[in-house]
Amino acid sequence: MNVIVVAVECAPWSKTGGLGDVAGALPKALAKRGHRVMVIAPRYGNYSEAKVIGDLKRYKVDGQDMEVTYYHAYIDSVDFVFIDSPIFRHIENDIYGGKREDILKRMILFCKAAVEVPGRVPCGGFCYGDGNLVFIANDWHTSLLPVYLKAYYRDNGFMIYARCVLVIHNIAHQGRGPLDDFSFVDLPHHYLDLFRLYDPVGGEHFNIFAAGLKTADRVVTVSHGYARELKTPEGGWGLHGIINKSDWKFQGIINGIDTHSWNPKFDVHLNFDGYTNYSLETLQTGKAQCKVALQQELGLPVCSDIPIIAFIGRLDHQKGVDLIAEAMHWLVGQNLQLIMLGTGRSDLEDMLRRFESEHQDKVRGWVGFSVKMAHRITAGADILLMPSRFEPCGLNQLYAMMYGTIPVVHAVGGLRDTVQQFDPFNETGLGWTFDRAEANRMIEALGHCLNTYWNYKESWVGLQKRGMMQDLSWDSAAERYEEVLVAAKYQW
Ligand code: GLC
Repeated sequence: MNVIVVAVECAPWSKTGGLGDVAGALPKALAKRGHRVMVIAPRYGNYSEAKVIGDLKRYKVDGQDMEVTYYHAYIDSVDFVFIDSPIFRHIENDIYGGKREDILKRMILFCKAAVEVPGRVPCGGFCYGDGNLVFIANDWHTSLLPVYLKAYYRDNGFMIYARCVLVIHNIAHQGRGPLDDFSFVDLPHHYLDLFRLYDPVGGEHFNIFAAGLKTADRVVTVSHGYARELKTPEGGWGLHGIINKSDWKFQGIINGIDTHSWNPKFDVHLNFDGYTNYSLETLQTGKAQCKVALQQELGLPVCSDIPIIAFIGRLDHQKGVDLIAEAMHWLVGQNLQLIMLGTGRSDLEDMLRRFESEHQDKVRGWVGFSVKMAHRITAGADILLMPSRFEPCGLNQLYAMMYGTIPVVHAVGGLRDTVQQFDPFNETGLGWTFDRAEANRMIEALGHCLNTYWNYKESWVGLQKRGMMQDLSWDSAAERYEEVLVAAKYQW
């Protein structure tokens, strides 16, 4: 099949979170299965490997002509098309930053430029005449893609067979606004109903995700647990009604991970500064060495026995950082070290700095986004804490398990699907879970975890090994996506 993945972030060029990782890895996995795959992403900077392709094009956004240049690169059997416009270059990697209208205009321009690629950009193999073309759009930012495909092509009598699968990575962001926002998207008035949504919180409003969910041929979300949650009023954030109505075309597929870059055996961030690569065979010595290197790098007391608990993630309400803050008193009373890495809400960033300065011998709060440190902390820590209030899939717990680092997670969404609770009687399971996003529940789970760390070494090593031996690659997820692509193609 010919598959075009469209996303506003794509690692390694642009990434603020898991979406970037998925857009970087799923295409390669599909290409490995023999499909012809293209990725379309905005060009936020000068990507030296990509060259201009075709002529300059113009698209109307909010009545204004905007110029777009397409750039192309062919890497790892995947065609990458980057859409260049001053409105992307100016924001660099602040992908979701700026005023609501500006964000909206960026997403509209991106979707308009992307939907025209098979028709207007000479990039072999991808064209609308072909019966095998399927787009994979991601989140609200590209939810206009299936809408434009319908409005500009299908409803205009063009015999196009192109289909669109829409993937929900996070329902909390929807492209909401007043109904007047409809004037931006440049569509005849009868399409307004697609965007119109009423919910008790926002009242009647304009909602881009709603339109995407209604017009997509198939809808996927990134775990089975989140698929269930999205159908409830609490988890669907106003879109549960539409999702329930779309049940026939909706399913969960758990994300994979890039098992090369996130592999302690090959990890390029571990082969200098005192760290070391390790594998199942060298787990104990390798991990102990990484722990010491991490303590040295962060200026913590060096001791390979003391358990290190890590938190890596955006500092916001979703990730439950405030639960760690609530538990801080208990945490610093234990014999452990705590390392937190992330950026986000400025009050939470300040909080991290404060905890570090108040507990110099135990706590490090690294405010910033560092891929290198994320890898090193994952390798050097013993425990990864993820108290997310909701988590569509979550990748950090998967990375942790590949490194023999034990996850302690709030049992929601993808976290519940991927971290089975440790059962000491049968020596099964992969970590600890707690069933409510509350500090005392988290402390209880951490208490059990630490008890096993200190007193049941064999169980601990068993947990580590079971985690490391899992196949978390994209291979099986890519197979599931393939089934969805085929289903989308044959539904008409
Ligand atoms: C979003 C979700 C996260 C998921 C990622 C990739 O960032 O919040 O849970 O892992 O997308 O699908």
